[in-house]
Amino acid sequence: MPTPQHRIGSGFGARSTAADVLHGIDLSGKLAIVTGGYSGIGLETTRALAGAGAQVVVPARRRATAEEALAGVHGVEMDELDLADLDSVREFAERFLAGGRSIDIVINNAGIMACPETRVGPGWEAQFATNHLGHFALVNRLWPAIVPGGARVVSVSSGGHGITGIRWDDMQFDNGYDKWQAYGQAKTANVLFAVQLDLLGRDAGVRSFSLRPGAIITALQRHLPKEEMIGLGWIDESGNAIDRSFKTPEQGAATQVWAATSPQLDGMGGVYCEDCDIAEIATSDNGLGVHTYAIDPDQAARLWTRSAELTGVDAFAVAT
Ligand SMILES: NC(=O)c1ccc[n+]([C@@H]2O[C@H](COP(=O)([O-])OP(=O)(O)OC[C@H]3O[C@@H](n4cnc5c(N)ncnc54)[C@H](OP(=O)(O)O)[C@@H]3O)[C@@H](O)[C@H]2O)c1
Repeated sequence: MPTPQHRIGSGFGARSTAADVLHGIDLSGKLAIVTGGYSGIGLETTRALAGAGAQVVVPARRRATAEEALAGVHGVEMDELDLADLDSVREFAERFLAGGRSIDIVINNAGIMACPETRVGPGWEAQFATNHLGHFALVNRLWPAIVPGGARVVSVSSGGHGITGIRWDDMQFDNGYDKWQAYGQAKTANVLFAVQLDLLGRDAGVRSFSLRPGAIITALQRHLPKEEMIGLGWIDESGNAIDRSFKTPEQGAATQVWAATSPQLDGMGGVYCEDCDIAEIATSDNGLGVHTYAIDPDQAARLWTRSAELTGVDAFAVAT
């Protein structure tokens, strides 16, 4: 039975923090992998999970930076991973699997936004490749270690998924690049990935979620000119957030931590969350709720097949 895409009345909200949603939850003995868990909301996610007793693996493309950001946080270990490089993804997964440990939580948090046109691997558009294909390959490669009967895989999407669905006729922007269309497609892919992974993993008791963390000033905005952010009404001339809907990083981390750990979601999956609850279907373009194309099962299955073809990885492929 698919989980209805409706609020459940969790009692948490936009101002809840990662610490709030973890209150009373003991993650001792659990292992979590948090991509990008050393910057922005990922850093707060790592701190919160480790604070609740989890062992947290943070694979980083800048390991020294990760070690500096997480110095003194008990229960955290670093490794190397560049999601834009499928060899790096394979090597990280092989190192992890060789250790023989099990995974209770994967949070696909790392991401880039609205960068200038960048090509990676065999010429793939970098936002789609990093935010979606890298995580697709990572989770499929780690699948043998993901614990049946209780593990969760959480993919951090964005209200930006409302910009566009999957551009089937020009997924890699060969016919002209638009930095926001590329971000929107990548974030829609994060939602569709969670839909299909939940379908595939449900019988094994591995559930998947996606989410909108809210708007948070982090390094994610590094590619946006200051004038563009002022124009969007996000910051003032001094660079301070002026949009009062902006969250702190601790609040921004809350929904992914909630999706990864809350007993309120036991037996559920495949849904898009926001503000520490399951989201409603979007009724406008104001960034709230989930657009139906992003949770469409046919689109999700089609994207899975295409991603498996592109990356050459599929943990669920039926041997022929
Ligand atoms: N901030 C917001 O308002 C907002 C809103 C909606 C959704 N989100 C989503 O939230 C997630 C986290 O964003 P954030 O705001 O915390 O941004 P952030 O501070 O820039 O953190 C992003 C992390 O991803 C890592 N990363 C980027 N490219 C990578 C690659 N090729 N391989 C491995 N790691 C890579 C970064 O590593 P480096 O530090 O080494 O670059 C960084 O640690 C993203 O998926 C973003 O789309 C954020």
